[in-house]
Amino acid sequence: MELTQAFSIRPAKQSRIREVDFDHLEFGKYVADHMLVCDYGKGKWNTPEIIPFGDLTVSPTTLALHYGQTVFEGMKAFRMEDGRINIFRIHKHYERLTRSLDRMCMAIVPEEVFIEGLRQLIELDKAWVPAAPGTALYIRPFAFASEAKFGVKVSDEYKFIIFSGPVAGAFQKPLRVKVETGYARAARGGTGAAKCGGNYGGAYYPTQKAKEAGYDQVLWTDSHDHQYIEESGMMNALFVIDGKLVTPPLSDSILDGITRDSLLTLAGDLGIPVETRPVSLDELEKAFRQRLITEAFGAGTAAIVAPIGVIHSRGIDYQLPEYTPGAVMFRLKDKLEAIRTGKEQDKHNWNYVF
Ligand code: COI
Repeated sequence: MELTQAFSIRPAKQSRIREVDFDHLEFGKYVADHMLVCDYGKGKWNTPEIIPFGDLTVSPTTLALHYGQTVFEGMKAFRMEDGRINIFRIHKHYERLTRSLDRMCMAIVPEEVFIEGLRQLIELDKAWVPAAPGTALYIRPFAFASEAKFGVKVSDEYKFIIFSGPVAGAFQKPLRVKVETGYARAARGGTGAAKCGGNYGGAYYPTQKAKEAGYDQVLWTDSHDHQYIEESGMMNALFVIDGKLVTPPLSDSILDGITRDSLLTLAGDLGIPVETRPVSLDELEKAFRQRLITEAFGAGTAAIVAPIGVIHSRGIDYQLPEYTPGAVMFRLKDKLEAIRTGKEQDKHNWNYVF
């Protein structure tokens, strides 16, 4: 299928970009002019359409609204130093989307629809890709079971949509996080490694409880005996312990974070020792007592790194040292930024530039 020809494009009559205050971007506040919509039914994906961003009409019986077959991706496009656009790690995001769709029993979006669709969509909305340091065009591809039938079944119809919006960096103030030893984000054999909506919805209640207790986020532990760190809020959890960058290994209860993967690779490039291994609460608490833990942070596409200032574990608030610009997390973040904007060579072939 020659999809480049098959895409149908209906540009917006008028751009909304003048409504954007590019000096005060907020995550989720602005949405760019266009979206891509592609429908699946009768065993095949239809012609993708790029149309003005707008509302959808869905039946109250739409399966996704009841039984949760819905997955998404979060990715970013950057304005490079030379003015071109770079969609970061587009192929890795596609692979993760297919794994999420597969886990949720949903139709797999063809690679051409994703890659070529994104390129054409972002090309059309390229004026929306901001240039200031730390900013990006956040891209939200997602799919949901669109069959209108309330019987309990795997949907035979899906909608795949991509929209985007300019964002600035977020979460820079060090967070106070509470180790959660009652609730769990995900269980072994569950859907924790899939980027499905239910993982986020299920996290709200424990996070609200943590907020009521004076914390910003939850540091998730394993669902079996709550001894091992899993994730930090909606992000992967990383620590610097005794000069080593330490993070829990991927499993079916941990999301394969693309920022996590990038930071671990860059740490290797910088000669920082990396350990991907289980991190127990006993180890963390001991590392605090021995002053061996110097950094704790979340890593995700939206925030890139989210420094942690306090970890509450089993009744005690453990304080991390003050972070300076030389902290490992900031060195890694800066290197990542330099690669994505073309200041530094992209030796891992992460950039998709046009
Ligand atoms: C990210 O950290 O980028 C995520 O995917 C979380 C998202 C819900 C904002």
